[in-house]
Amino acid sequence: MNKKIVMASMVALLAGQPAFVQAEKGKELAASCAGCHGETGNSVMSAFPKLAGQHATYIKQQLLAFKLGARNAPMMAPLAMGLSEQAMDDVADFYSKQKIDNNDMPIIEFEDEEDEDDLDDEGKAELAAKKQTELDDLMALGSDLYRNGDLEREVSACIACHGPYGEGNRPAAFPALRSQHADYLIKSLTDFKTGSRADNPDNMMHMIARKMTDREIKAVAYHISIMK
Ligand code: HEC
Ligand code: HEC
Repeated sequence: MNKKIVMASMVALLAGQPAFVQAEKGKELAASCAGCHGETGNSVMSAFPKLAGQHATYIKQQLLAFKLGARNAPMMAPLAMGLSEQAMDDVADFYSKQKIDNNDMPIIEFEDEEDEDDLDDEGKAELAAKKQTELDDLMALGSDLYRNGDLEREVSACIACHGPYGEGNRPAAFPALRSQHADYLIKSLTDFKTGSRADNPDNMMHMIARKMTDREIKAVAYHISIMK
C-alpha cells in the first residue's frame, strides 16, 4: 500500500468511527439480542418489543434508563449494564435501519367464551359476529383516541407526538409506535398508568395513561398495532 493511502486511512480512523465500522459493530452486538428481539429487530414473541425502524435516539435513551435502573425491566437491566455508550450507539444505529414487519389484525377472545367445538353452526356464526362487532368497536375507539384524544378528560391525542403514521419524532426521541406488538403496547401503557415505568422525569405518558381505562388502552394498542 502506498504511504499516502495508509496515512489517509489512519486519519479517517482517528477522526471518528467510519459508518461501515459502526454498521458492523451494531450488527455483531445485535446478534446477542436476537434471541428475544429477532435477528432484524422483529421479535416473534409479542411480549418482546420490536426494535426494527425505531429511532436510534429513543433506543439509546431506553438502554441508558435500563442501565441506570430508571426503567425497571429485570430482563433488560443486566444486558444494558454490559453496554458502553458507544456500543449503545452502534446497536441503536443498527436497529434504526431495519424494516419493521406488519402485524395481523388482532384476534378477539372473550373471557367467558364457550369452546367453539361445543357450538352448533348457528352458535358459531353468532360468536363470530359478536367478535367482529367487538373488534370493530375497539378499532373505532382506538382510532378516535389516537387522532383526537379525549379533551374533556385531558387525554392528549397521540398523533401530536407519535405522528399521523405512528412514526414518532427522532429529534425529540418520541418513539415510533406503528406495527408494534399489541401485547407489548398494552403492557407499556399499563406500566405508565401504574407508575411502574417512569424513566422520564416529567413523564408525559404517565399523565396520559393514568386517565385511560383498560378498555381504551386495549383499543388504542390494537389500532397502533396495525398502523403501517
Ligand atoms: C431475554 C430477552 C431479552 C434480550 C436477550 C434482550 N432484550 Fe431488550 N427487551 C426485553 C424485554 C422483555 C423488553 C421490554 C421491557 C419492558 O417490559 O419494559 C425489552 C425492551 C428493550 C428495549 C426498549 C424498547 C422500547 O420500545 O421501549 C430496547 C431498546 C431493548 N430491549 C434493547 C435490547 C438490546 C440492544 C439487546 C441486546 C444487547 C436486548 N434488548 C436483549 C427482552 C430482551
Ligand atoms: C406530549 C407527547 C406525547 C403524547 C401526546 C403521547 N405520547 Fe406516548 N410517548 C411520549 C414519549 C416522550 C414517550 C417515551 C417515554 C419514555 O421515555 O419512557 C412515549 C412512549 C409511549 C409508548 C411506549 C413505547 C415503547 O416502545 O415502549 C407508548 C405505547 C405510547 N407512548 C403510546 C401513546 C398513546 C397511546 C398516546 C395517546 C393516547 C400517546 N402515547 C400520547 C410522548 C407522547
